Amino acid sequence: MRLQGKVAIITGAANGMGAAEAKLFAKEGAKVVATDLNGEKLNEMVAEITANGGEAVALRQNVTSEEEWKAIVAKTVELYGKVDVLVNNAGVASPKTMADMDMDEWNKVMDINLNGCVLGMKYCIPEMKKAGGGSVINISSIGGIVGMAGSSPYTAAKGALRALSKSAAVEYGKDRIRVNSVHPGIIVTPMTAPSMASAMPYYEAHTQLPYMGEPEDVAYGVVFLASDESRFMTGAELVIDGGWTAL
Ligand SMILES: NC(=O)c1ccc[n+]([C@@H]2O[C@H](COP(=O)([O-])OP(=O)(O)OC[C@H]3O[C@@H](n4cnc5c(N)ncnc54)[C@H](O)[C@@H]3O)[C@@H](O)[C@H]2O)c1
Repeated sequence: MRLQGKVAIITGAANGMGAAEAKLFAKEGAKVVATDLNGEKLNEMVAEITANGGEAVALRQNVTSEEEWKAIVAKTVELYGKVDVLVNNAGVASPKTMADMDMDEWNKVMDINLNGCVLGMKYCIPEMKKAGGGSVINISSIGGIVGMAGSSPYTAAKGALRALSKSAAVEYGKDRIRVNSVHPGIIVTPMTAPSMASAMPYYEAHTQLPYMGEPEDVAYGVVFLASDESRFMTGAELVIDGGWTAL
């Protein structure tokens, strides 16, 4: 029960890493507000948590909508009285090179992968201040640290999220609000599934361990950052990449 009594909002929780985080958070005693664009899949995920005795609620949300962020935070406070943890996990892939990409694609990726996280922080941080502290976990990527060909808008958004996490950590440290970024390598989820066959030689060449990551490999790190075990960590980067960035 490493998260007993904590109230956590997790975005993009219907699938992949967000779903694994929501399940592990509930198992560790958190009250989970799970949000996603895909309401149907989200309801199934939350039903699984509650069937196993966990505490969770499913709220449909588009993270790019400021109005919806206000409503999600208000509903969380109405249901559970506070916000302790925000996991900005929702994101989309964008296999585009600079010359291929059009500005609509660029804006879409920035809107979801960066602006959605900005809005989450903007509306959760005041509640964390009221609660006397909190933990924000921004799910970036190895693409926020090193270059990746054919992922320009994605890596730009993830790199900005990495830098933004550090600035927010500096701005809110004295309020006991910690802000860290997480940098997964290749994790087997619905996001990477379409590329698994064709890109496997590339993935294997960069991943130093002889296997790819599972959503739970990242979820354990996110639980640590949400818990008081990481109370002296802020503005840090938790890299969970099977050695991709070690080279
Ligand atoms: N899978 C990987 O290898 C990998 C590696 C590094 C970083 N990441 C990052 O980890 C996070 C989770 O990725 P995943 O692989 O679990 O992806 P996924 O596609 O399995 O899940 C992402 C979820 O986000 C939701 N979502 C998308 N747009 C949304 C929006 N506008 N509003 C609300 N929800 C929205 C989707 O419905 C989906 O349920 C993402 O931010 C991703 O960029 C993934």
